[in-house]
Amino acid sequence: MTNIINIEIEQYLRGLAPERPGFMVEMEKYAVENYVSIIPPEVAQFLTFLVHLRQAKDILEIGTAIAYSTIWLAWAVTPRDGRVTTIEINERRARTALKNIREAGLEDRITLLFGHAVDIVPQLRDTYDFIFIDAAKGQYGWFFEELYPRLAPGGLLVSDNVLAEGRLIVPEEELRHRQKTAIRRLRDYLDMITTHPNLETTVVPLGDGIAVSLKK
Ligand SMILES: C[S@@+](CC[C@H](N)C(=O)[O-])C[C@H]1O[C@@H](n2cnc3c(N)ncnc32)[C@H](O)[C@@H]1O
Repeated sequence: MTNIINIEIEQYLRGLAPERPGFMVEMEKYAVENYVSIIPPEVAQFLTFLVHLRQAKDILEIGTAIAYSTIWLAWAVTPRDGRVTTIEINERRARTALKNIREAGLEDRITLLFGHAVDIVPQLRDTYDFIFIDAAKGQYGWFFEELYPRLAPGGLLVSDNVLAEGRLIVPEEELRHRQKTAIRRLRDYLDMITTHPNLETTVVPLGDGIAVSLKK
């Protein structure tokens, strides 16, 4: 499928994103070369903005990959001496993430939990004022059930890739067989978070689509 927004506009917005240190630019290159999907800088800037707006201190992220978004989130909570807990299922990526977190000097601010979020989240006893879901799209509904009680009142739940490169609006018969279930689940997820009585949700067509939900 396609970009959610016009490619020239996307490039322009990317040019407005803040300068990154060399090691972050290296991570961006690594992600392209190794087919790791990470948030683009303009999405990182948007997340940073939301964290500051919410004055968030305790962040939970599902889907670390190589810790690119994790590092942005950790920088965003630094003025409030906040913390980021992040979960990654892929061992190789978790190792790369730890190396990158060390390189960023953020070992004290980030806790990486290696394993399946389905196993780890139920063991978490804390509540968070900002939760970022950026993992297997077909599991967002499950994540929500477990994450909602862990989101503090007034907290933000931010779900990435909710427009699935535009596949969300493709008629079901035109989707490839293995995409159908994931897209159906994603549509159900969006229906659920946009009609939930205790959430106020808006979907922003930036990057691959970001749903921002405020817990009332
Ligand atoms: C899109 S990438 C995350 C990118 C990262 N948030 C960033 O923008 O820099 C999704 C990651 O979620 C991980 N993942 C998928 N399902 C997971 C699960 N159930 N539990 C933990 N991690 C999961 C994948 O291994 C992958 O590295």
